[in-house]
Order: sequence, then C-alpha cells, then structure tokens
Amino acid sequence: MRLEGKRALVTGSSQGIGAAIAKLFAKEGAHVVLNHRPSNPHSDAVVKSIERAGGTATLVHSDVSDPSSVSKMFTAIRRDLGGLDVLVNAAGLSDSRIWNAPLSKITPDMWRKVFAVDAFGTFLCTQGAARLMKRGSIVNVASTPAIAGDSEGLLYASAKGAVLSMTRMLAKVLAPRIRVNCMAFGSIETTWVDWLDKKQLDAYRAAIPLRRFGKPEEAASLALFLASEESSFITGQVVVLDGGEVSR
Ligand SMILES: NC(=O)c1ccc[n+]([C@@H]2O[C@H](COP(=O)([O-])OP(=O)(O)OC[C@H]3O[C@@H](n4cnc5c(N)ncnc54)[C@H](OP(=O)(O)O)[C@@H]3O)[C@@H](O)[C@H]2O)c1
Repeated sequence: MRLEGKRALVTGSSQGIGAAIAKLFAKEGAHVVLNHRPSNPHSDAVVKSIERAGGTATLVHSDVSDPSSVSKMFTAIRRDLGGLDVLVNAAGLSDSRIWNAPLSKITPDMWRKVFAVDAFGTFLCTQGAARLMKRGSIVNVASTPAIAGDSEGLLYASAKGAVLSMTRMLAKVLAPRIRVNCMAFGSIETTWVDWLDKKQLDAYRAAIPLRRFGKPEEAASLALFLASEESSFITGQVVVLDGGEVSR
C-alpha cells in the first residue's frame, strides 16, 4: 500500500474529486481526515463508505476560508493524530454564476468569496499543515484555464492562478522538508456538468482530444502519485490532467 501509516487531510472531500481522493488514499493505507464546511448538510457518507471498505477516516468540519475555523481543524488533527503527512487542498468554490460571469458582471463580493476559498484557503491550510508536518507532501488543485487562458471562468481561473504561484513559491520555501506540487485539471465530470445542456456538453467534449471528460478517480490517481513516495524527487511542479486539451 502506497500510503501505509500516513495521515492525510483532504479539504473539500464531501463529494466530487476530493471524495474520490479521500477514498483512494484510505484504500492505500492512509488515515484520512475529510473536510467540508460546517454549514452544509452533507452527512458523513464518505467516512462510512471508507469504513465499509476497511479503511479509517474522520470528518472535521471547517470552512477553509475562515482562519479561526482552520485553526480549530489543525488543533483537532494535532490532538487526535499527533501530526500530518499529506495535505490535499481540494476545496474550491464555483457555480454556474461564478464560472459564467464576464468581466463586467464580477462583483467585489464574488471576487472576495472565490479568492477566500481557493487562494486564501489553500494558504491557510498549507500554513497549518506545515506546522504539523515533520516531512510530507502537499498537493494543490488548480485548473487549466489558469495556465492557458480561456474566454470563460475569469474569476475562477484567476484564483487558481494564485494557487499555481503559491505552489512554486512554497516548494522552495518548504524544501527539503515538504514537497509541494499542483494538479491542473481540465474537465473532470463532477457536479458542474449539471449546469450545461447536452449541446454545450458535446461542444466541451469535442474540444478534448480524448473526446471525454476525466473521472474523479483519474484525478485521485494523480493525487496519490504526488502524495506518495513514488514522486519523491518531484516538487514545485504543475501536472496537467485534461485529456490533452492544453499544450504547454
Ligand atoms: N471538476 C472539474 O472539472 C475541475 C476542474 C479544475 C479544477 N477543479 C477543482 O477541483 C476541486 C474539486 O472540484 P469538484 O468538481 O469535485 O468540486 P465540487 O464537487 O464543487 O466540490 C467542492 C468541494 O469543496 C468543498 N468546499 C467548498 N467550499 C469550502 C470551504 N469554504 N471550506 C471547506 N470545503 C469547501 C465542498 O463541500 P461543502 O460544499 O460541503 O463545503 C465540496 O466538498 C476544486 O478545487 C475545483 O476548483 C475541478
């Protein structure tokens, strides 16, 4: 097992990509700390699914954009697990309004909310994790428009651009103790597909050389590689997982 005995926090793991990462990490021997916002009515379905499969997991509610909530989460992790080996910053905020907002419609409040979760949340959790890790791996989450540009998703991709910069900076700041890498996803099939009609989905697929969306499990496989010792000489990198949509 590739994460045997490791303690891994996966933020934003109530559904989608974060949940797939949490399940795979648990299958590979990690004790997984799941996280999502306290205000949301998600049950502990992912914890139960991990336990049914023979793994171990705990759920710590925390809003990653709130410093005091994040501080309480890391206090709980220190108390219950004594430290941390892996952090995946998967929590992200997007919806069709945020994704589709053109330059003229982005309000200060929208800008602050998205940056608060994606950029500030990644920063806060990294700060908390770095205090708890002796040695470890941090895996961030960005998206391909932050690398290649796009006519849609201006606000969302701008926040992910901050995550890319933090990855490169923190890899140097935290070396040699902690490796920091980033996954840049193209279209991975999660809740956002419900925002679009069939014609729009077909157009999105047609732009992808592999002619399909990625699966959360494929994103989880990349997270596992970056979290585990298999990537022990890789830090400060952005790895694209997008079916060939973006060339660099
Ligand atoms: N799906 C894609 O095609 C794609 C492409 C590029 C990048 N990404 C990135 O990959 C990550 C996962 O994407 P996804 O599609 O699986 O997203 P998703 O289905 O919308 O899930 C987002 C997760 O983040 C949590 N979350 C949101 N705000 C939070 C906060 N303030 N504190 C703690 N948790 C919070 C949500 O839980 P609650 O709502 O319960 O708090 C949920 O578990 C995100 O960072 C996203 O931006 C996704």
